[in-house]
Amino acid sequence: MKTKGALLREHNKPWAIEEIEIGDPKAHEIKIKMEAAGMCHSDHHLMTGGIPMAGFPILGGHEGAGVVAEVGEGVTDFEVGDHVVLSFIPSCGKCPSCQSGMANLCDFGAMLLQGEAVSDNTFRIHTAAGENVYPMTLLGTFAPYMVVHEASAVKIDKDIPFEIAALCGCGIPTGYGSSTRSGDVRPGEDVAIVGVGGVGTAALQGAVISGARNVFAIDPVEWKREQALKFGATAAFASVEEAAMSIAETTHGGMCQKVVVTVGEVHGKDVDSWMGITAKGGTCVLTGMGNMLESDVTLNLAMLTLLQKNLQGSIFGGANPKLDIPQLLSMYKIGKLNIADMITRQYRLDQINEGYQDMLDGRNIRGVIRYTEEDW
Ligand SMILES: NC(=O)c1ccc[n+]([C@@H]2O[C@H](COP(=O)([O-])OP(=O)(O)OC[C@H]3O[C@@H](n4cnc5c(N)ncnc54)[C@H](O)[C@@H]3O)[C@@H](O)[C@H]2O)c1
Ligand SMILES: [Zn+2]
Ligand SMILES: [Zn+2]
Repeated sequence: MKTKGALLREHNKPWAIEEIEIGDPKAHEIKIKMEAAGMCHSDHHLMTGGIPMAGFPILGGHEGAGVVAEVGEGVTDFEVGDHVVLSFIPSCGKCPSCQSGMANLCDFGAMLLQGEAVSDNTFRIHTAAGENVYPMTLLGTFAPYMVVHEASAVKIDKDIPFEIAALCGCGIPTGYGSSTRSGDVRPGEDVAIVGVGGVGTAALQGAVISGARNVFAIDPVEWKREQALKFGATAAFASVEEAAMSIAETTHGGMCQKVVVTVGEVHGKDVDSWMGITAKGGTCVLTGMGNMLESDVTLNLAMLTLLQKNLQGSIFGGANPKLDIPQLLSMYKIGKLNIADMITRQYRLDQINEGYQDMLDGRNIRGVIRYTEEDW
């Protein structure tokens, strides 16, 4: 079918809405009529080239929710009319990682930046001129319709607002899981969240819900710091340097058992400062991303060894999409997880560049694209 999508044809150029052609669902694929797509910072890394896809043009978007419009052969878990979250992490349920409870490391993940569908290694999306289109993480939620493998979709209750559900395709499980799973925050621990945007605010809620004693939020944007205090941070600082002395005072020199790094642009030169506010025996969870080609890190190895610290990478917060997405949404439903206040602004698809500018200007915790009759 003909539809449209937000494409990138080269790095550092704005998103452009172009006509695209989406193929019919093949075996184990489903077609989704999209309702909402979250604007995560990782799509901005596609624009800068920090996260390089295998080719151009790229169709952006890896966080979204919609309604199943068509199912391919062999699909048994979904039927037309089901409401789903599109998870940027596919989980096949069969590979060793899925079988061992690490679905966030599903073998399908190897294909996330390749552009081809995991079902048969062909391209499902083309431009009007017939070029292959490379969708972000097997999805491409910046289009009103998508065809995805069933491993990338998670069925949800029909009474959940789509914009709320959309955030559970990446930001919410990634942030919440960075604290609760990768960080394993325990009651009474002191925690720092470095960067309280979309992912960081979910991490902050994960730390608060886990019973952290002090939760220090660090972000250069004053409005973000104010929001963090509303979401349960016990103190907020503009930089790690500014926070370090206060954290030392509050924790009597112990520092933070867990530090969760969710800054928009990660740089290796900052790692030592994050490890500096991590307690001995503590863990610094690195969830934020920078340029994939950067490999220089500043890190005092003696302090790493002698104070037995851990530096822990985290994809999707260590969460399991098919288990955690419904659970997080059920927590939203009973008022234990505040997703609604994380949605600062909603946009039409053609306002995508404005939405990303608002993110970069520090005006949004999360911006969401809402699809309407005009898009379908
Ligand atoms: N590992 C994963 O699975 C995964 C998943 C989603 C997003 N990400 C990455 O997580 C990061 C955050 O994503 P987001 O959507 O929340 O972005 P965002 O832009 O909403 O939030 C980033 C926040 O970091 C703050 N910040 C910038 N520089 C800082 C610094 N030096 N110190 C402290 N705070 C700083 C910004 O003001 C902003 O509030 C991005 O790098 C994104 O690519 C990783
Ligand atoms: Zn994301
Ligand atoms: Zn798997």
